[in-house]
Amino acid sequence: MQTEQLLLGQTLRFSADPFQAPINEAAHHESKGAVLVQGGLIRAVGPAERLRAAHPDARIVDYGAGLITAGFVDAHAHYPQTGIIASWGKRLIDWLNSYTFPEEIRFSDPEYARETARLYLDLTRANGTTTIASFCTIHPASVDALFEEARQRGQRLVAGKTCMDRNAPDGLRDTAQSAYDDSKALLEKWHGRGRLAYAITPRFSPTSSPGQLAALGALWAEHPDCLMQTHLCEQPDEIKWVAELFPDARDYLDTYEQHGLLRERGLFGHAIHLTPRERARLRDVGASLIHCPTSNTFIGSGLFDMAGLMAEGQHIGLATDTGGGSSFSMLRTMAAAYEISQLRGTAALHAAQLMWLATAGSARALHLADKIGNLSPGLEADLVVLDLASTPAIRQRSARAGDIWEAIFPTIMMGDDRAVKSVWIGGKKAL
Ligand code: GUN
Ligand code: ZN
Repeated sequence: MQTEQLLLGQTLRFSADPFQAPINEAAHHESKGAVLVQGGLIRAVGPAERLRAAHPDARIVDYGAGLITAGFVDAHAHYPQTGIIASWGKRLIDWLNSYTFPEEIRFSDPEYARETARLYLDLTRANGTTTIASFCTIHPASVDALFEEARQRGQRLVAGKTCMDRNAPDGLRDTAQSAYDDSKALLEKWHGRGRLAYAITPRFSPTSSPGQLAALGALWAEHPDCLMQTHLCEQPDEIKWVAELFPDARDYLDTYEQHGLLRERGLFGHAIHLTPRERARLRDVGASLIHCPTSNTFIGSGLFDMAGLMAEGQHIGLATDTGGGSSFSMLRTMAAAYEISQLRGTAALHAAQLMWLATAGSARALHLADKIGNLSPGLEADLVVLDLASTPAIRQRSARAGDIWEAIFPTIMMGDDRAVKSVWIGGKKAL
């Protein structure tokens, strides 16, 4: 039997969705808690005293007042955009043409892809992120690079080849047939191998012909347990362009729906400027909407309707959207989500809701809630330990806290990688 390890610290876990159930019923905090890890899985969670007595031979790892939670789950990112994060002065379409596409062309070099994959997984791990759903580039080697690097780290990953056969520069276009063939080969190579999962990835309707969307819809029908990730209703100019490119479509979502790309296991990034029909269809099929708040402010896209969409029962995940997003940190991302809901004037998002979105909520959106995203026996031991007093500014504020939520909130609003004390991936200490 593999050694039992007992992590001591404060613990935070969820037994229900804190958008549906009262916070004090959904979230559970233990100030002297423990997480028992063995064979890559969480085996028990509870009071330190009880677990120590029940497992006297376990190796103790004492994090003191550190807060142990599930590792962060980033439900939408572009690892190839690591090098162009924080590029100045453009909105979506100009930003893609000026910064993103020229950078993505560089991934025709497999060595550059490998270096970037390594750097990206180092940066996200330093920020406490243990699972990512990432776009790659059109180059199959860019997909191999990220999956291979994640495999070596024993890390859970969702990724796919970004498909584009129009409105992209030379060197960054495939075809309907090659997108189908390459995606199929990559999917057969990586999907379900260890902790890796494939997502069929049409970038967005403006860069895919109807023929390419149909080919990828057919591939998804042949592999129904895969995920599908794309972008939806991010900026008004983009939506207008989609209407011109697809004159027969009822709306943006219909460009996916008409081609077999709308159902459960579909992940739709941004989803800001939705029509009532689009909202109803997304909810009816149980698709996932991925909120990318630092990207939505940075590229100037708009204010996601978290309160309204949650009230409708949509499945929502949280994501950095690097490099359109301006941070690798899910803490910075939670802060931006809070600020956007404040700007909308809806009920303030609670610290518990923000933490849930960045862990269990994103895991549910990725259809991985039975594997990751919470401190529950049987789930994979992907953990982050947060220092709730990581800077002088945060320390002086959390010192005044009357309860755990007031102690966590300054780290959510002001924290970054300095707050990440330790990271465990698949039951092994990775940082
Ligand atoms: N829409 C299509 N491609 C992209 C991308 O790379 N980033 C963002 N934010 N939106 C997109
Ligand atoms: Zn994106």
